[in-house]
Amino acid sequence: MNIRLGLGLAAALGLAACSPGKTPPAALDWAYPKAAKIDFPAPPGSGPYHVAGSTLSFTKAQMQSDDPVADWFPERHPVPPYSVNRQGKGEPLPCAECHLHSGQGFLGAADLNGLPAAYIVAQVKAFRVGDRSSSEPSRQATHEMAEVAKGVSDKGLAEAAAYYAALPRPVRLKVVETDLVPRTRPNYFGWRDLVPGTAREPIAGRIIEVSDDFAAAAIRDERIPITAYVPPGAVARGAALVASGGGSGQACRTCHGPDLKGAGEIPPLAGRSPSYLARALWDIRSGSRHDPGVAPMQAPARGLSAAQITDVTAYLASLTP
Ligand code: HEC
Ligand code: HEC
Repeated sequence: MNIRLGLGLAAALGLAACSPGKTPPAALDWAYPKAAKIDFPAPPGSGPYHVAGSTLSFTKAQMQSDDPVADWFPERHPVPPYSVNRQGKGEPLPCAECHLHSGQGFLGAADLNGLPAAYIVAQVKAFRVGDRSSSEPSRQATHEMAEVAKGVSDKGLAEAAAYYAALPRPVRLKVVETDLVPRTRPNYFGWRDLVPGTAREPIAGRIIEVSDDFAAAAIRDERIPITAYVPPGAVARGAALVASGGGSGQACRTCHGPDLKGAGEIPPLAGRSPSYLARALWDIRSGSRHDPGVAPMQAPARGLSAAQITDVTAYLASLTP
């Protein structure tokens, strides 16, 4: 068999093996915001920009540059390595563009602060070789992460992983149980923007995660809190599922640590973005994440329905990171 045919056949078999039930169900639409329009929040106005508590000032050009990525609080973290902060010609986007200097992550990305360094390296390599993708094929943010994974050198990756792994995990999220939520609309880059005005709408079984100040977040003020509105009763139902392990019967703390803050190379779950965690669980359940390291996690993820994923992530988000 020639190589081309072999590859084609493998691709076809792979597709057949993981296509049923791969795309996210409607009940998890809230975790995969989709919009056709490119509406990345440009820094409002013409600058220069300031944020409270920082003595620095950035022009619009500096704010939009990735070499270096604007950093309001350089005194709050060690000097970042080149791969985190700089982008020369032909080089991949630096990590801080999406994960910020604090590692807490822009809306729609993932938090990396305090994750095990070996886990960070393994995940980026999984994106690089296609062992990790999104169940939602149109998810632009994940495609961009995969491009960075292909472009970053192993040395740049190791340095970025060591940098992020050493950072603290301050509280940024607050979880609010409610029947009514502010009206939001999906953003092309994978989060939800507020619809201007005071109108509210039923939460309808979703989790709605919004920045407390989109304008400040758009100029990279990494301290801006995020509010996650969750359905009434979700936190308690999620706590019970995490304790029992749901359908798999494998309690989450067995592997993720007694306080769910991670153990060894296994990542933390406490205090993380519920939208991110829900995507992670569905992407594992659907087989879109199939790197060798994810094998122990497959049964726990398959033991959770979409509604249970919503409850579990509401509870996990409510914990102190
Ligand atoms: C263009 C934006 C962007 C850039 C730049 C970027 N990432 Fe990401 N990264 C993402 C997004 C979005 C995700 C979540 C993808 C998903 O799960 O669908 C992610 C996920 C990750 C994860 C998985 C976290 C977890 O908990 O499993 C790691 C690790 C990671 N990125 C590391 C890096 C490193 C290291 C760099 C720099 C070399 C980098 N990223 C640059 C957008 C970006
Ligand atoms: C048998 C051990 C084990 C159990 C039990 C377990 N996990 Fe995991 N989990 C893992 C491992 C290992 C990973 C890292 C996967 C990888 O390397 O790709 C992981 C990853 C995850 C992730 C992805 C995190 C990220 O940063 O992307 C989530 C979310 C998660 N687990 C949630 C849970 C929940 C919820 C439960 C309980 C229902 C649970 N896990 C039970 C071993 C386990």
